[in-house]
Amino acid sequence: MTKLLVVATSNPGKLREMQAYLANSDWELTLKPQELEVEETGDTFAANACLKASQVAQATGQWAIADDSGLEVAALNGVPGVYSARYGNNDSERIARLLKELGNEVNRQAQFVCAVAIARPDGAIILQSEGICRGEILHAPRGDGGFGYDPIFYVPEKQLTFAEMARELKGSISHRGQALNALIPQLKTLLSNE
Ligand code: IMP
Repeated sequence: MTKLLVVATSNPGKLREMQAYLANSDWELTLKPQELEVEETGDTFAANACLKASQVAQATGQWAIADDSGLEVAALNGVPGVYSARYGNNDSERIARLLKELGNEVNRQAQFVCAVAIARPDGAIILQSEGICRGEILHAPRGDGGFGYDPIFYVPEKQLTFAEMARELKGSISHRGQALNALIPQLKTLLSNE
């Protein structure tokens, strides 16, 4: 029997990404109702993921999954962090602002972090995980795939930015991929125990 899992996002891209990860499970994923907005008031990725999963589960009366993610730049003490989405009005503004703040700083180390939380229909959080992908911030964008800060996030082991990677490669090493992969075995057994 399949079970409904509401994805606490209005972003169809995120829904597609999660559907790909859960393709072989018995969960049927659906987007949250558009009018249901959850304010990200937490000061960690995990706190925001829990907040979103819990509120969407309670409001819909269904199981819910939420993620919260962002980019932490070492030389900027972890900024933009939980403010990654609010760091500018659009992707190019956000990238321009980050490159300006970093200037000619020699330490270009950065990491993408993603926290995922799953809530029961009563809002209780029952699964959580976190994924990290380390890289470096380039001086100028490279590549035109992906979204967000992808064109300036360079992964030395692959010698590519996230924006230059095939979707499958990014998915296999990314923060979101790692966080979701860690949850999948548990998510699959949840169904059989319900
Ligand atoms: P969220 O939807 O609150 O998780 O917002 C996360 C923000 O962090 C996005 O708007 C992007 O700016 C940035 N971000 C998170 N994951 C990625 C990624 O995989 N590539 C590029 N930017 C990302």
